[in-house]
Amino acid sequence: MSTSKIFRYDSDGIVVTYEARRCIHAEACVHGLPAAFDPKRKPWVDAGAAPADDIARVIERCPTGALQYQRKDGGPHEAPPPKNTVRIAADGPLYFHGRVQVNAADGQPLARETRVALCRCGKSALKPFCDGSHTKAGFKDAGAVSSLQVKNEAGKSGDGALVITCSTDGSLGVGGDFELVDAKGGVAGRGNLTWLCRCGGSGNKPFCDGTHKKIGFKSN
Ligand code: SF4
Ligand code: FES
Repeated sequence: MSTSKIFRYDSDGIVVTYEARRCIHAEACVHGLPAAFDPKRKPWVDAGAAPADDIARVIERCPTGALQYQRKDGGPHEAPPPKNTVRIAADGPLYFHGRVQVNAADGQPLARETRVALCRCGKSALKPFCDGSHTKAGFKDAGAVSSLQVKNEAGKSGDGALVITCSTDGSLGVGGDFELVDAKGGVAGRGNLTWLCRCGGSGNKPFCDGTHKKIGFKSN
């Protein structure tokens, strides 16, 4: 995985960090609090332009995790939602929301966050994270689930965390309780084990069907 620069913006009450390459311009921030997040201004984040509570609330809507915060005023830290969800974006990434841990194939932790967008078109230069390359690559997938491949296995629920293992040149293994949500917002299934495609080639998206081997997918 290549590295990505993280920008930092401070006010008395909150520190905002922004990892530009993980932003896919979904604009939840810009529409949610334009005084603090204005892409026409330099720097584009003004952490003092609104109360820390409002800034935190809007950052928690950033689906990719490009924006994060830490409170300096004793306010609450971001809490994970009660349920882990995996949401498929039409023509875009997989959004994970919950107690999310992303591990490399060798078990090395890559992220421990509540909001993460992972590449499923196979073209990101920041794998396993989405960097918006799906748009340039013309990736197309409606984000529907036609043949559910989610298991419920004893002993796989763990401690409530959703552990995603990025296998070398292969799928994203997902272990831990989760709800799979299609691009229209419908719950397609619930379970605690699945393998999701990240090469862009599966004939049964969002699940891995082994196509990565045929197309010679490289995860690095
Ligand atoms: S909400 Fe997150 S992904 Fe969307 S524009 Fe803002 S920083 Fe980028
Ligand atoms: S990762 Fe795409 S088919 Fe396996």
